[in-house]
Amino acid sequence: MKNDAIAIVTGAAKGIGFSIARELAASGFFTIIADVDENGGREAVAQLRPEHSAYLPCDVSDEVSIAQLFTTVAAQYGTVKVVVNNAGIIRDRVIWKMETADFDRVIQVNLRGTWLVCREAARVMKTAGYGRIINIASRAWLGNPGQTNYSASKAGIVGMTRALALELARHGVTVNAVAPGLIDTPLTQNLPHEVQQKLLNAQPTKTMGQPEDIARMVAFLAAEANHFITGQVFHVDGGKSVGTSVF
Ligand SMILES: NC(=O)c1ccc[n+]([C@@H]2O[C@H](COP(=O)([O-])OP(=O)(O)OC[C@H]3O[C@@H](n4cnc5c(N)ncnc54)[C@H](O)[C@@H]3O)[C@@H](O)[C@H]2O)c1
Repeated sequence: MKNDAIAIVTGAAKGIGFSIARELAASGFFTIIADVDENGGREAVAQLRPEHSAYLPCDVSDEVSIAQLFTTVAAQYGTVKVVVNNAGIIRDRVIWKMETADFDRVIQVNLRGTWLVCREAARVMKTAGYGRIINIASRAWLGNPGQTNYSASKAGIVGMTRALALELARHGVTVNAVAPGLIDTPLTQNLPHEVQQKLLNAQPTKTMGQPEDIARMVAFLAAEANHFITGQVFHVDGGKSVGTSVF
């Protein structure tokens, strides 16, 4: 039987995306875990249970793969009400050591991938007259050394979110961005220990956030009741976007 409350979360096999999928499933959405990592995606579904979620392969850097995702969801699962653009990567280096390929790949996955998924979502949601699009940016959109590629991709997501919010506002669709700060996920766990310590020190709270901190904000924005919030960026970062604390 088809479901009338589908949420698609890209990059949901692990980390923040998995936590978002779990929160949305708990809020009553049938959640599609769309990820390049098939093993991780199937494990994620096993944890959330198949009655609440399904895994579909998706590479957000591939336009055809995204089109297939939306076609399969419409044919087999039901009405897409929520789309969360969470898939993202880093390739950090100071610009004078960064390869062009590292710039291109980060833009391709983070910015172009989000734009491609937004376009599919916009088509479906405009026709339905309802939708919630939530784009995962990063506090780094304000600027992070060693991340010219990543900061540019995330600043692009913020600009895109604002423009798309205006395009879709009269069609019952809200578009917002969530900008996480330092969050404890495989992405940050893979950073060198001294980098992790420096990042932690720069946190006003002196703590990392947990994926659930982001997931709760996403679930809030995904709620039907929150129809009057659109085009906004919500920093969930322990105060880091306010300034670096010397205390
Ligand atoms: N962890 C943090 O501190 C932090 C801070 C700010 C923003 N973010 C953002 O949050 C999002 C999730 O980060 P995370 O820390 O959970 O990362 P992660 O590396 O732990 O997980 C990322 C997931 O995305 C998937 N993915 C990667 N490339 C993909 C592609 N081309 N198509 C589909 N799926 C793909 C991976 O398989 C993985 O499951 C990213 O957009 C990231 O930029 C994270």
